[in-house]
Amino acid sequence: MNEIDYDLLSKQALSLCEGGGDSPAFETACLANVSALIFDALHDVNWAGFYRLMPDGSLLLGPFQGKPACMVLYAGKGVCQAAVSSGESVVVNDVHAFPGHIACDSASASEIVLPLRKDGRVVGVLDIDSPVLARFSEEDEIGLAKIAAVIEKKGDFYEGFFKT
Ligand code: SME
Repeated sequence: MNEIDYDLLSKQALSLCEGGGDSPAFETACLANVSALIFDALHDVNWAGFYRLMPDGSLLLGPFQGKPACMVLYAGKGVCQAAVSSGESVVVNDVHAFPGHIACDSASASEIVLPLRKDGRVVGVLDIDSPVLARFSEEDEIGLAKIAAVIEKKGDFYEGFFKT
């Protein structure tokens, strides 16, 4: 399998999210395009997208690519919420072995979730699913963190979308 050039991808993510202002509509466009970028560039991925953290601690579905997904992920359950509560990326090699995993697409076999921060607090997550067991390596985790960092860097820009 070809290696993924995450440095190039993060540059592309940055360029997709630059120059369009800071309106909520542009924010949505940026997140939609970054989810499409990831979905297109990574092999063996069946879902890639964003959830934003709501004031009640639930995660609300944001822009994504893939099959329709769970609209709301409640606090205390699932892989995405585990990334929120730990503040760390979570890599699950076999989602069926993860207690409380929420299966939006029955094809998903492994998953990576990266928390997104603003001013030090988690405001949302980037979630990617694969139909292949143990799809996400440490290299993927490091590379995807570069894309997450690009999104976090757009601090003012993100204030609208991830406002809690
Ligand atoms: N599997 C996630 C739910 C979101 S979907 O994968 C898109 C979870 O357990 O939180």
